[in-house]
Amino acid sequence: MATIRLGDEAPNFTAQSTEGTINFHEWLGDGWGILFSHPADYTPVCTTELGTVAKYKAAFDKRNVKVVALSVDGLESHKGWIKDINETQKTTVNFPIIADEDRKVSELYDMIHPNADSKHTVRSVFVIGSDKTVKLMITYPASTGRNFDELLRVIDSLQLTAYHKVATPANWNNGDDCVVVPSVDSADIKKIFPKGFKEIKPYLRMTPQPNID
Ligand code: BEZ
Repeated sequence: MATIRLGDEAPNFTAQSTEGTINFHEWLGDGWGILFSHPADYTPVCTTELGTVAKYKAAFDKRNVKVVALSVDGLESHKGWIKDINETQKTTVNFPIIADEDRKVSELYDMIHPNADSKHTVRSVFVIGSDKTVKLMITYPASTGRNFDELLRVIDSLQLTAYHKVATPANWNNGDDCVVVPSVDSADIKKIFPKGFKEIKPYLRMTPQPNID
């Protein structure tokens, strides 16, 4: 298992899922992706998480992001559990769940943290850009369900900063002012940011979000 770092190419794999065999890179196509692991099927927190992700499909689609979940349980277990998720969370699971019984993908992505749990994956999240590189990694313990609004917020920031010379400040949300990146020379700011900018300090320059009207 090699360490995965931000900017690395997301390791490719072929795996069984509830929607058939997936070759990860082919499945991603030209879009963005989220690969996230959960500790085990038929567990309460995971049930709420997967139901929530199903309800966020339109929000992920809008951002051109495909989502795939994973646990080390088998395909039949996943299929039975999906019925429970649909029933209890009042939704329809609309994304694949990888059955990683041989832990091939979990080990490739370092999703098993033996000092937390020797058998099951922790709650890992990998956001993959359209260039197939890793843009974000977050790891939560089994006892804490993820905040999928935060994931959408980070994806908005990642997709904005990939194409514009801005970064996003603390607690930024889509529509808020952005930070002009330090590499932009003050002499060029007006040209690059026609909406204007505010110089609070020479190193702290704010501008309205460039990709919205
Ligand atoms: C859960 O998903 O509810 C869960 C899984 C493993 C440990 C604790 C909670």
